[in-house]
Amino acid sequence: MLVLGIETTCDETAAAVVRRRGEGPGEVLSNVVRAQFDAHAAFGGVVPEIAARAHIDALDGVVAKALSDAGVTLDELDGLAAAAGPGLVGGVIVGLTAGKALALAADKPFSAVNHLEAHALTARLTDGVAFPYLLLLASGGHTQLLAVLGVGRYLRLGTTLDDALGEAFDKVAKMLGLGYPGGPQVERRAANGDPARFAFPRPMHGRVEPNFSLSGLKTAVRLEAERIAPLSETDVDDLCAAFQAAVVDVVANRARAGARAFAESFGAPSALVVAGGVAANGPIRQALQGVASDLGAPMVAPPLALCGDNGAMIAWAGAERLALGLVDGLDFAPRPRWPLDAASAAPGAKA
Ligand code: KG4
Ligand code: ZN
Repeated sequence: MLVLGIETTCDETAAAVVRRRGEGPGEVLSNVVRAQFDAHAAFGGVVPEIAARAHIDALDGVVAKALSDAGVTLDELDGLAAAAGPGLVGGVIVGLTAGKALALAADKPFSAVNHLEAHALTARLTDGVAFPYLLLLASGGHTQLLAVLGVGRYLRLGTTLDDALGEAFDKVAKMLGLGYPGGPQVERRAANGDPARFAFPRPMHGRVEPNFSLSGLKTAVRLEAERIAPLSETDVDDLCAAFQAAVVDVVANRARAGARAFAESFGAPSALVVAGGVAANGPIRQALQGVASDLGAPMVAPPLALCGDNGAMIAWAGAERLALGLVDGLDFAPRPRWPLDAASAAPGAKA
């Protein structure tokens, strides 16, 4: 099954062609990602209106390149998929409408994909991981521990009570005068820093419920930065290192709590999977590797190109859904909010 996937929920315009042959890993035939970082850099974050217009400008070219890199025509596809949310509604409208239009023009089935489900299923594209598995989904807008039970079957075990992990990296980067997105910058600066120079808190450490809280840690970094200002390059390196060390401890501790919650209901997971932009972080991957080996399960993290937002994960989730006969209508409306697990749709819950 050959599927083209389109991703426009945030600040990457992306399209890809993926092949699914059945159970087992899939094949990425093309994966075109055009990031808009430059357009948003001056604002220290994504500006929704700028993002939506940039998607309109870029999408045709990105889709054409995804098809030509893969060496396939629209007619040879078995289906079209586009992310229908959650995300910035202006961007979602652009990609979703384009996906539907291509499906209509080519007379192919269409799949409206949940962006979070696409991150969640990436480990099956890359490694053919079997259900059920424990997933840490950590991006700029989401931080959740989930039991992935099947396509469309997710149970949220824990979530963040305030900031997302990627958001904490982005905010720390911003307060230290580093660029956006902050995660890669903080990781780079932390590599030269002394993590022991500052003792930052490890929020939620030891709690049974596998939830996260990051705003206190972020505030501790800000107070320390203000106290020692003006900051030298070494100060910035050390602040990044100490912040990242705290995050790494928190992630490992919370993943262990998630593993216990998973085991109570579902027994042993087939793998500990990490997905989303934060999965690119080396020390976080390493810490999760330790948690996984204690569990006796493999740790699966996507290759760097599939950690951040991309079209391959959308194409793959579409292929998995289409293989189960799950076809969506061309009247499918964008969903700016779209939790994976109905329980997390409760009022006030942060997706
Ligand atoms: O999944 P993603 O590309 O987009 C969202 O759906 O949010 O994740 C982007 C987030 C940003 O907050 C970015 O700072 C973070 O992932 N990120 C990282 C790293 N690379 C990206 N965080 C920590 N370390 C990294 N190396
Ligand atoms: Zn994402």
